[in-house]
Amino acid sequence: MNLKFQYDCSGVDWEVVPQILKTVGMSFYNAEIHRNTFIASASVVFVYDGQQLVGFGRAISDGYCQAAIYDVAVLPSHQGCNIGRLIIQKIVTSLPMCNFILYASPGKEPFYEKLNFRKMKTGMALFIKPDIMKDKGFTE
Ligand SMILES: CC(C)(COP(=O)(O)OP(=O)(O)OC[C@H]1O[C@@H](n2cnc3c(N)ncnc32)[C@H](O)[C@@H]1OP(=O)(O)O)[C@@H](O)C(=O)NCCC(=O)NCCS
Repeated sequence: MNLKFQYDCSGVDWEVVPQILKTVGMSFYNAEIHRNTFIASASVVFVYDGQQLVGFGRAISDGYCQAAIYDVAVLPSHQGCNIGRLIIQKIVTSLPMCNFILYASPGKEPFYEKLNFRKMKTGMALFIKPDIMKDKGFTE
């Protein structure tokens, strides 16, 4: 592997972002929406193996105290190589004053626990598609 980490949105092939999200079983939109969400984010990480985009993540934030992490994904071919850990670490260190929240895909909580995240006892969510999120195991 020849990994390169990128911390801005330059040169990203946005068509590949929903392809990767679909491959790993996460929610995805069209390429333009993903381009807009990453550009609007306070912190972005893209990981390339040579020329191939193999992982990414992003955080929205006020830049001072609060941040939320979204769209963390690593291609199956590259999982288990510490790339996910490095994506989270880069996002967290880029916003050093911030608390971070996220909702883990069901079953992925242990990954975040290894990175010192703790389960929230009072997390609440208002989803656009509440029935789907309930069916997927995100809400009670
Ligand atoms: C979850 C994901 C981002 C992890 O990325 P990764 O590069 O495979 O993980 P890493 O290699 O950095 O793993 C870091 C540590 O977490 C552990 N870990 C990773 N995924 C795990 C899982 N699903 N359950 C338990 N532990 C896990 C690893 O074993 C490793 O532990 P170690 O320090 O003891 O070796 C990746 O598997 C993925 O993209 N999954 C599909 C999409 C997804 O669910 N994303 C998260 C959305 S909330």
